[in-house]
Amino acid sequence: MQALKVLSTEEKEALDSPRISADYRQSDFLGKVYIESYGCQMNFADSEVVTSILIDKGYGTTSNINEADTILLNTCAIRDNAENKIRHRLQTFKGLKAKKPEITIGILGCMAERLKTKLIEEEKLVDLVAGPDAYRDLPNLLEQIENGQKAINVFLSKEETYGDIEPVRLHTNGVTAFVSIMRGCDNMCSFCVVPFTRGRERSRDLDSIIKECQTLFDQGYREVNLLGQNVDSYQWKNPETGESINFANLLEKTAQIHPDLRIRFSTSHPKDITDEVLHTMARYENICKNIHLPAQSGNNRILELMNRTYSREWYLDRIKSIKTILGEDCGISHDIIAGFCSETEDEHKDTLSLLEEVQYDFGYMFIYSERPGTPAAKKYPDDVPEEVKSRRLAEIIELQRKHSGIRNNRYIGKIEKVLVEGNSKKSNLHHYGKTDSCKVVVFPKGKEKIGEYVHVKIISCTTGTLIGELVN
Ligand code: 5AD
Ligand code: SF4
Repeated sequence: MQALKVLSTEEKEALDSPRISADYRQSDFLGKVYIESYGCQMNFADSEVVTSILIDKGYGTTSNINEADTILLNTCAIRDNAENKIRHRLQTFKGLKAKKPEITIGILGCMAERLKTKLIEEEKLVDLVAGPDAYRDLPNLLEQIENGQKAINVFLSKEETYGDIEPVRLHTNGVTAFVSIMRGCDNMCSFCVVPFTRGRERSRDLDSIIKECQTLFDQGYREVNLLGQNVDSYQWKNPETGESINFANLLEKTAQIHPDLRIRFSTSHPKDITDEVLHTMARYENICKNIHLPAQSGNNRILELMNRTYSREWYLDRIKSIKTILGEDCGISHDIIAGFCSETEDEHKDTLSLLEEVQYDFGYMFIYSERPGTPAAKKYPDDVPEEVKSRRLAEIIELQRKHSGIRNNRYIGKIEKVLVEGNSKKSNLHHYGKTDSCKVVVFPKGKEKIGEYVHVKIISCTTGTLIGELVN
């Protein structure tokens, strides 16, 4: 099953297709690399680090697979279908490899880390396997292949943050960019493969984050999205002053770069998001009022089996704080898993009632997919029949769609400050951008340029998009 969410056309396009490397060939004496990136925003950000490392050594990148000397797939392992997609994609390279036997095919990212040497054994086409902490080693690994060997590095690090590497922006609209602030995850949610594929949690040093955001602003970017598996546990100590920086401090320092630089972040964890973070968001107009707070389930027994370490009551208390401190208009989104091990009909209904209680703006909704080696796979049978999982997911999606409609309707008649991100995919006569609360707005073009802020009066909506007109 795909990640399902009530989506605008712009977001659908972004989710459905892998991201492909741009052409960059200032110097490509070591050959051209084509990169396809799948999965989460962290993976897309990682591909920008990979590109930087390779370009630095003398590789070029290309968006045309037919002119590539090396193909890299940056993969996701979070659900079974994510890995199946990669396996199918690999099959489509057979013809290319037959025509050009010297071409190198490499697998990066979470699937590489999860399957390690198995990937080389099972998929004959694969020459190179590199996990998320091994990207600095890519030039060496590629050299090994030149000498006729297969190459693998799946060591996980406790320190690597790639903090000193300036990413090469690949998929940029020149307005919004992702900035990785930490790596790994220590949470051990029982269903999740991430702690095994991305290793221990570590925070990137503050100075390099601020420098990267400042550079982006100077280059004309107007929104940074601070990325981490669990941003609320960001923690960094300045080795010179001994000053301790938590996520609220980091948010504040990023917001102070410039009032015209919007700050977003994901993902928050309900057990860790503090009132200090919420008050910091309230203090700065440029920290967007939008929080992605995965719930996973609305039932306490299931939350416990999932090892989420909070209860429904705790979660709802956090929602209450968000609404009290940031107001009812703060955008709130969720992740929900349908049909986790042993989930009963009544427990599923608790998830539906959580949705009713919170009234989220949108959500990412998934069917539980057992991942080998995770605590859930070891301890609990995956015993909810597929058709029951699908039906529960459909009920969750339907309810979310209703709430997205209700939440979007609240905007009709209001004037919103919108950062213009580009042309609407449906019409060249329209621009699209986002509100502070992360709603996509489409409106007929005026004189504004991409990257500027405009005020838009919302006149109608769908469940995924607000439709408006410029106000002077
Ligand atoms: N099955 C289904 N969904 C999963 N997620 C993580 N692991 C699984 C799994 N095994 C979902 C969670 C998480 C999001 C990134 O992916 O909802 O928040
Ligand atoms: Fe996975 Fe839980 Fe960590 Fe998110 S917080 S990456 S769901 S282990």
